Amino acid sequence: MCGIVGYVGDQQALDVVVAGLARLEYRGYDSAGVAVVADGEIVMEKRAGKLINLRDALAGLPQPPATVGIGHTRWATHGAPTDRNAHPHGDCKGQIAVIHNGIIENFAALRAELEERGHELRSDTDTEVVAHLLEEETAGVTLGEAMRNVCRRLEGAFTLLAVHTADPGLVVGARRNSPLVVGRGVGENFLGSDVSAFIAHTREAIELGQDQVVELRRDSITITDFDGRPAKTRDYHVDWDASAAEKDGYEYFMLKEIAEQPRAVADTLLGRVGADGRLVLDEMRLSDQDLRDCDKIVIVACGTAFHSGLIAKYAIEHWTRIPCEVELASEFRYRDPILTRDTLVIAISQSGETMDTLMAVRYAREQRAKVLAICNVNGSTIPRESDGVLYTHAGPEVAVASTKAFLTQLVACYLVALYLGQVRGVLFGDEIEDVIEQLETMPSKIQEVLTTIGPVRDLARSLAAERCVLFLGRHVGFPVAMEGALKLKELAYMHAEGFAAGELKHGPIALVEPGLPVVVVVPGHGRKVIHDKIVSNIQEIRARGAKTIVIAEEGDDSVTAYADTLIRIPAVPTLLQPLVSTVPLQVFACELASAKGHDVDQPRNLAKSVTVE
Ligand code: G6P
Repeated sequence: MCGIVGYVGDQQALDVVVAGLARLEYRGYDSAGVAVVADGEIVMEKRAGKLINLRDALAGLPQPPATVGIGHTRWATHGAPTDRNAHPHGDCKGQIAVIHNGIIENFAALRAELEERGHELRSDTDTEVVAHLLEEETAGVTLGEAMRNVCRRLEGAFTLLAVHTADPGLVVGARRNSPLVVGRGVGENFLGSDVSAFIAHTREAIELGQDQVVELRRDSITITDFDGRPAKTRDYHVDWDASAAEKDGYEYFMLKEIAEQPRAVADTLLGRVGADGRLVLDEMRLSDQDLRDCDKIVIVACGTAFHSGLIAKYAIEHWTRIPCEVELASEFRYRDPILTRDTLVIAISQSGETMDTLMAVRYAREQRAKVLAICNVNGSTIPRESDGVLYTHAGPEVAVASTKAFLTQLVACYLVALYLGQVRGVLFGDEIEDVIEQLETMPSKIQEVLTTIGPVRDLARSLAAERCVLFLGRHVGFPVAMEGALKLKELAYMHAEGFAAGELKHGPIALVEPGLPVVVVVPGHGRKVIHDKIVSNIQEIRARGAKTIVIAEEGDDSVTAYADTLIRIPAVPTLLQPLVSTVPLQVFACELASAKGHDVDQPRNLAKSVTVE
């Protein structure tokens, strides 16, 4: 939420910063702005709306001769998304520029103090107070020192970058609860909300910890805590390159990421089975004893990641017999949940930065529960603050609506469940091998779905004028239905709900009227009882005039008579079916949104990485 870029080096700062913002725009697109230090002056330009508006404005201006700059792409919290509220924000004297991601919770009190002391604040943002506080603090000390002093007075979540005309070769950054990484170059250095900001220039990164300040010059990087003591950091090499974050000829990132799913699933499975057929998840950093002692699992996550947790519950309880709860991270810590040392909390997050999930992780650790993160972004905050981590290897996910991250989260959850079964001795080796073998066939099964997806696209386009779509499922198909509905809400801005098919008769069936499109995810024949029940549910809605769109396995002829549209998916074991049944729903939402003329990659009001509560 909000993208941040900083640069110090030899190149034209404006070019580097704007190119970095283009890669971070998925984090927010309410406004964009840049500030560079040129000839001892701050040159600032900002515009409401998407980055293109800023680019257009810059195109009409002479390029300032600057090699130091900062840039921001905003997801508005305090203050409407206008030019005035766009970042950067400046001080009274025009010597300082500041950008910010997060929320400064005590900004109102700070603003009142500043106004009393004669400062003139020009925006409605919480951020601007920082520029004026820095103005006061830099009266006697360096910008780095001033930043540390200011940070100690701030409450809430923030990543801040600042430049000052008094020290034109310096960018200072600070972070508490919001993300910031350093990119180490040769004769140039970078700051970014994530590595995609600078991946075109360097793949060497430094993970910043909580409450740290970084002073970035072209040939030095100094990192301290808020009291000025040298800080512990971790260097790492980014294992993907700039081309992974390009559209690669696809119309949208989302389409590219959907197409990448077979490879993402294969990569997430790679190297996790030893030569003896046993699972090896050493990187999880949790001892086998901890996993044997665990008597309850609680999964916390948000959005699409929450849906992967709902599916994981079926696998975990089925394979390990450990009770498993799944909870929205935003609700978790506020209801006084019962956690003990033997509770394993699994936090699922693509970005590793979602504030609600991070707060749930912190709460769980305070209660002494063990926390395992399932994450896609190496070195992000949630894995860093967890006891252990299992990384998904989806590669960078840029589209706001999550697709390949979701499938790889499912794979990681299956692996964790099987590993628990292995360690606790509740699954035989050959049972685990069987599932692993099945999982290893999934990339080609997903590819099969993608290759035969044409009719789903046609269907989506034919439904562009509809106002509402319902999704039904049973067992693991229920969270899949919820995910299908979420995708449609996010992208097509349509009313869409995912229901448990058995619950239909307890209320939702009242929504069914002639012509209403209802998507039904049918479980495989392997679970005959639920399969047959959902076939009855299809008949119930059809009897009331619904337009039935049925997703069923190859060879399942029992549904043919009741399906207005039949979408075939390969037959796979029921627990693994979401890996194939979700894919048509992703394409359905993407195509429908595109038919309505929406920006598929940047849907309104949303941001990919939500770093506020
Ligand atoms: C936002 C995104 C969703 C995502 C959710 C959780 O709401 O728009 O696509 O599922 O955050 O994100 P995470 O990074 O924690 O998986």
